[in-house]
Amino acid sequence: MIQLIRGFKDILPEESALWQHIENTARALFEDFGFREIHPPVLEKTELFKRSIGEDTDIVEKEMYTFADRNGDLITLRPEATASVVRSYIQHKMYAVDPIRKMYTIGPMFRRERPQKGRYRQFYQINAEVFGEASPYIDAQLIFMLVTLFSKLGVMDINAHINSLGCPECRPDFRKALSELLISRKEQLCEDCIRRSERNPLRVLDCKVPACREAVSEAPSIMDFLCPDCARHFDTVQAMLVKQGVRFELDKRLVRGLDYYTRTTFELQTGALGAQSAVAGGGRYDGLVKALGGPAHPAIGFAIGFDRLVEIVSQSQENLEKKPVIFIAALGEEGIQNGYIWANELCLAGVPTEADFSGKSLKSLMKRADRMGALFVLMVGESELKEGRVVLRDMKTKEQHAFPVDKLTETITNFLNR
Ligand code: HAM
Repeated sequence: MIQLIRGFKDILPEESALWQHIENTARALFEDFGFREIHPPVLEKTELFKRSIGEDTDIVEKEMYTFADRNGDLITLRPEATASVVRSYIQHKMYAVDPIRKMYTIGPMFRRERPQKGRYRQFYQINAEVFGEASPYIDAQLIFMLVTLFSKLGVMDINAHINSLGCPECRPDFRKALSELLISRKEQLCEDCIRRSERNPLRVLDCKVPACREAVSEAPSIMDFLCPDCARHFDTVQAMLVKQGVRFELDKRLVRGLDYYTRTTFELQTGALGAQSAVAGGGRYDGLVKALGGPAHPAIGFAIGFDRLVEIVSQSQENLEKKPVIFIAALGEEGIQNGYIWANELCLAGVPTEADFSGKSLKSLMKRADRMGALFVLMVGESELKEGRVVLRDMKTKEQHAFPVDKLTETITNFLNR
């Protein structure tokens, strides 16, 4: 038997209701905040991710599914969506009429990480991105929208971590100080980090190897290096979060695993998922649109780990699996024919209806209705039909109601809405 690929998984029909509930809640909220949906493709030129996420990141160094197309072009299954949304913003000159654009996208991402609980090689993200707006109020609003989504979904065990990574004005001084410390601790670092300590020392702050974490425990704080503009920006973000009652923690180690960030970065972490604590992450990337060939427009965004969010919500939510309201137990040839018509009519009338045309006994049909959790069973037997009526049984109270077959769909719909 052919099994699925390691690190990949099926989202089964019984899980789908929860995925849909989360997706619908996110869509409704984001649309209210002015975001519109975009669907970039899952395959892009490898160059796009190398230039945006950064050559020294784990994602680009080790995790991308990259392969040569039949004509030799290098293409990559997207490891994240931001780069594609930026490419699309530039390619379609979305900034031409109004540089401010708010977009969201939901879909699969691919990273060849070591699979474990909460970490998959195909996983889903819910992304939101804002272009053309440099104001710190947008940072605060985006974080507010993100935590609002979590509270709407009833997720309580969540901590917002925030940091500022400065800008091209002030970050070089921080990089230099960090690099000097790392070079002095070279013998403690893993091989990747020895290389990174000169080229891209911020990546070392993100390394998960315990010895490297230990080596950076006394790293300087970026807060001491922020230029006045970055410091003011970050102060306003924090003040606005406080004003709206958003609780957060300052986390100077939060550098995120992608190179494009500037200024505000943030992550939502939870204790509910074991080792994989990050359930959402994002930040400003004011230089990326220009770096990818567009105008110098600022931007900010986040991505939620959809699989991880589903896992947390499923710990608190009761089963949302959809159940039929009516189960039609059709008995005998005439019962099946009539049941078939009524089943379609009820489905079209918006009443979730399941019918069984197998011709099995009433006893086994009742068992199946029970297993499916149907609220009512409509018994369509030949003898009842002869009398021009059918019986609706309430599976909870066991009450039975006889209804005339004439205008049955209408009668049942009225009965259910009574
Ligand atoms: P990221 O932190 O790499 O950011 O990913 C965002 C979220 O995706 C993580 O917090 C995590 O919940 C989820 N995630 C990442 N990798 C996996 C995996 N292997 N299995 C399951 N879930 C995973 C980004 O991707 C940025 N593009 C976010 C962003 C948008 N920044 C600005 N705009």
